[in-house]
Amino acid sequence: MVVVSKEYERCMRIDLITLLPDLLRGPFDNSILKRAHERGLLEVVIHNLRDYTSHKHRQVDDYQFGGGAGMVMMIEPIARCIEQLKSERDYDQVIYMTPDGLLLDQPTANKLSMSKNIIILCGHYKGVDQRVRDHFITQEISIGNYVLSGGELPAAVLVDAIGRLIPGVLNDESSALFDSFQDDLLAPPVYTRPEDFNGLKVPSIILTGDEKKISQWRHDRAIERTAERRPDLLK
Ligand code: ADE
Repeated sequence: MVVVSKEYERCMRIDLITLLPDLLRGPFDNSILKRAHERGLLEVVIHNLRDYTSHKHRQVDDYQFGGGAGMVMMIEPIARCIEQLKSERDYDQVIYMTPDGLLLDQPTANKLSMSKNIIILCGHYKGVDQRVRDHFITQEISIGNYVLSGGELPAAVLVDAIGRLIPGVLNDESSALFDSFQDDLLAPPVYTRPEDFNGLKVPSIILTGDEKKISQWRHDRAIERTAERRPDLLK
């Protein structure tokens, strides 16, 4: 049972549909996402697609019509799984992780973090039967212009990007606001003790305690770093 935190009164639910449930468990049993679960702010439920097939050998994929290399994930178990979930609650989005989806960025993560319930379908092999994409999927997301062997790691990336934005998940709530990309700027450099490590000194301005000056210095460094590394963000 999930106890929803009184302070926030909101628990997001993410249902992951996958052929490799074990691959997905690790990321959610650790660190920030684990804390989110313990605080009753995020519930991640993993569904093994093989549990939804009526095929006697639990087959979930087949050769593609028209020929060609690679197996295609069948519509039947996916439809059954999604329909069952939808009969239990309303979903804001049914997302398919695919390299030909829209590139994940911070605004997309921000928007999704305001959802109540989300389904994420992880693809494999040649992907899923196009009818799944046409009739069940509301959003297709890629995590980068490269092809991974399945949608599980991309789904874990997406859940992490969303989960850490849910109010109450990070200890210092404001810290997500100052992440790289939140204002189209990369984050400025950060330092901690010691002030002097074998002659490598931290910039003196951040030791002054003058908040206004420090804030201006951080902003200037953020602009400098963005101009250097990601000038496209400044346009
Ligand atoms: N599945 C395989 N590669 C992927 C990618 N780059 N993004 C999302 N899903 C994927």
